[in-house]
Amino acid sequence: MSVEPTRADRFSFGLWTVGWTAQDPFGPATRPALDAVEAVHRLSDLGAYGVTFHDDDLFPFGSPDAERAGHIDRFKAALADTGLVVPMVTTNLFSHPVFKDGGFTSNDRSVRRFALRKVMRNLDLAAELGASTFVMWGGREGSESDAAKDVVAALERFREAVDTLAQYVVDQGYGLRFALEPKPNEPRGDILLPTVGHALAFISSLEHADMVGLNPEVGHEQMAGLNFVHGIAQAMWHQKLFHIDLNGQRGVKYDQDLVFGHGDLLNAFFLVDLLEHGPIGGGSAAVSSGYDGPRHFDYKPLRTENADGVWVSAAANMRTYLILKERAAAFRADPEVKEALAAARVPELAEPTLAPGESYADLLADKAAFEDYDADAAGAQGYNVVRLNQLAIDHVTGAR
Ligand code: GCO
Ligand code: MN
Ligand code: MN
Repeated sequence: MSVEPTRADRFSFGLWTVGWTAQDPFGPATRPALDAVEAVHRLSDLGAYGVTFHDDDLFPFGSPDAERAGHIDRFKAALADTGLVVPMVTTNLFSHPVFKDGGFTSNDRSVRRFALRKVMRNLDLAAELGASTFVMWGGREGSESDAAKDVVAALERFREAVDTLAQYVVDQGYGLRFALEPKPNEPRGDILLPTVGHALAFISSLEHADMVGLNPEVGHEQMAGLNFVHGIAQAMWHQKLFHIDLNGQRGVKYDQDLVFGHGDLLNAFFLVDLLEHGPIGGGSAAVSSGYDGPRHFDYKPLRTENADGVWVSAAANMRTYLILKERAAAFRADPEVKEALAAARVPELAEPTLAPGESYADLLADKAAFEDYDADAAGAQGYNVVRLNQLAIDHVTGAR
C-alpha cells in the first residue's frame, strides 16, 4: 500500500485551513493571504480530490454581486483546470460582528432573518457547484451568560432554521444534505449542540430529520474530554455520519486544530480503522461497513510555519491518514490479532443477547441464565484486553 495520496483516497481540505494566516488573540498574521486559485492548484498537486469553503472564504462579506461573481468564476476555472471537486460547502455565520450573539439563535430577530438569507444564498451556490453536503457549524450559537440566553427558545429557533432551510432545499430540488458540526465552546463560552450526542438528539426532533446528519470533528469531541471513536461509532449506528472533520487535539484545552494524528495518535488509529473497515467486532446489521464520504481535513497550519510549511502540513494530514490506513489493514489481517480479538470475546458482542425467536418469558424459564448461573466464575474470568491493545500499539509503531 502506498502512502502517496491519490484522488481515489477522497481527501479534501477547507480553503480556510491552508489559507489561515495565523492571526490569533495574541498576535497578528504570520503568513500572507493565500489566493483561492493557488490553494486549489496546490491541493490538487498534493493529491487531494476536493476543496470546501465558507462563502466568506471565496468572496469578502458583503461583496457586490459583480465582484462576487468574479470570485466564483475564477474559482470555477481553477476547479476545471485541476479537476478538483467541491463535495461540501458551508456558511460563515460567525465572523462579522452582526453574528456576535449568534446567527440562527441571535436574540435579535432581524439577525436571524439575515442569517437564513445568507445561508439560502450559499445553498444556491453549493448546488451550482455540485456539492452534496452542506455543513452547519454554529460557532456563535451560544452564550457566556446563563441570564442572557433562553436556551429552550434558542433550540426552538435553531430547529426552525434547519427545518426552513431543509424545506428550501427540497423545494429547489437540490441534491444536498445537511451536516451539523458539534463543538463544546470557542468562540462562545458555551455553544449549543456541544457534542455528537446532543446533536443527534436535536436531529431526531426535526421535520426533515432524514436530510440532516453530522459533521463531527476530532478535536471538538476531545475538547470535551470525549472519545472521538465512540462518538463516530454512535453517529454511524444512527446512520448520521454524513461528513467528517479530521484533525488533531491534545486533551481538554482550546481548539488546537493540529494535523491529523498529531494529537491522540492511538485514537486516530482506531478512528481510521473504524472508517476504513467498519466496527471491529462486526457491528450490527445496520452498521457493518465503514464510511464512504470524503476524508476532510479541518486543521490549522501551525503559526510557526511559513508558506512552505503550510504545504508540508497539508501533505502531513494525508500521509498520516494513509500510514494509519496501512497499519489498520495490517492489524486486521494479523492472525494473532484475530486470535486476540476472539480471546477478548469482541466478536461475541455482535451476537444478540436473546436467541432468534426467544422471548423474555423464555429467558425467565432459562435456569442456566440465572438460577444456575455461576456469576462468581464469570466474574473471575479475564477479558484479555491488554494483549489486544498492545498488538494495536505494535502495529501503530511498526514493531509488527
Ligand atoms: C472551528 C470549526 C470550523 C468549521 C467550519 C465549517 O472550530 O472553527 O471546526 O472550522 O468546521 O466553519 O463549518
Ligand atoms: Mn475546530
Ligand atoms: Mn470543523
